[in-house]
Amino acid sequence: MNNLKYYLGRVEQLFADECFLAEPRELYEPIDYTLRLGGKRIRPTLLLAANALFGGREEEVLGAALGIETFHNFTLLHDDLMDRSPLRRGQPTVYRKWDENTAVLSGDTMFALAWRYFLRQPSPRLRDILNCFNETAIEVCEGQQKDMNFERRGLGRVSLDDYLDMIRQKTAVLLAGALKVGALYAGAPEAQVDLLYAFGLHLGLAFQMQDDLLDGYGDTAVFGKKTGQDIRDNKISYLPLTALTLADEPQREELLSLFATKDTPDEEAKVRRVMALYDAVGLRPVVEQNIAREFQSARQTLDRIAADEALKAPLRELMETLDGRKK
Ligand code: IPE
Ligand code: IPE
Ligand code: MG
Ligand code: MG
Ligand code: MG
Repeated sequence: MNNLKYYLGRVEQLFADECFLAEPRELYEPIDYTLRLGGKRIRPTLLLAANALFGGREEEVLGAALGIETFHNFTLLHDDLMDRSPLRRGQPTVYRKWDENTAVLSGDTMFALAWRYFLRQPSPRLRDILNCFNETAIEVCEGQQKDMNFERRGLGRVSLDDYLDMIRQKTAVLLAGALKVGALYAGAPEAQVDLLYAFGLHLGLAFQMQDDLLDGYGDTAVFGKKTGQDIRDNKISYLPLTALTLADEPQREELLSLFATKDTPDEEAKVRRVMALYDAVGLRPVVEQNIAREFQSARQTLDRIAADEALKAPLRELMETLDGRKK
């Protein structure tokens, strides 16, 4: 039986064996840079493990594993441009290292490359698989648009339910979709595919809530992204939304006003002030508790999947690694 280490190694090997450079260099070098910077490789790992869970053949899903990670990295190129983020995986983001046009076009190319990887291996179920991939991609874009809409709508006019719906789309459906694609290749029964998808959604929600937490409380050197970026961007993340539920009236007024200011002359002072308010309302333990609850729902859903416990082990291991992650 394969463990998590095996799958992570298999995914690394897959990327090491692939050539991403072609002409014109200006288009492909940022793609090579991004795909070689690593990252946690969560989505292809989920895909391979889900496939094995239902007796699939690994060689059949390697293209899809490359494809799902290439798609994820495409979303990062565009997301960093949209969020004006300077750093990813401890390195300059593509739009900073090159320029904005490069992030757009290399990103677009990665989306098309993802399709090429998916189409590499034939399968009798390819139509359903590509349909799942494409619907997932559309939802990710819908989620990203909602994220930007919320930024404009402003804190105080976005509910926790709005937020959960937004992160389900921008983040959770891709983890769920990766699992589903893996299971579809293996011909898993529909009820099991649905459970696996539900597991991925819980995992994805917990993952994004945690990403929001790390944006405030993470260590840039470990997290690999510049912390405080959500505050600078006035992002309606899980932190300000939960802080509002804990704040008294003056604290609430101040938070709303801080998240309504644009082009602040001293952005770092604003980050410090918001973080001080978070601490004053006792935000961190509350958020941590809620994230733990979402991980617990993921665990319970995985328990319900009818498959060999030994084959579920890598998925459990991955989930436990993500719970409490620092990067
Ligand atoms: C970053 O995803 C985008 C979010 C959904 C928060 P990851 O944290 O999986 O990024 P990498 O691939 O490991 O760098
Ligand atoms: C990630 O949201 C969603 C997608 C990339 C689709 P964030 O904007 O929070 O991700 P990071 O923090 O930049 O990785
Ligand atoms: Mg971002
Ligand atoms: Mg974003
Ligand atoms: Mg983030």
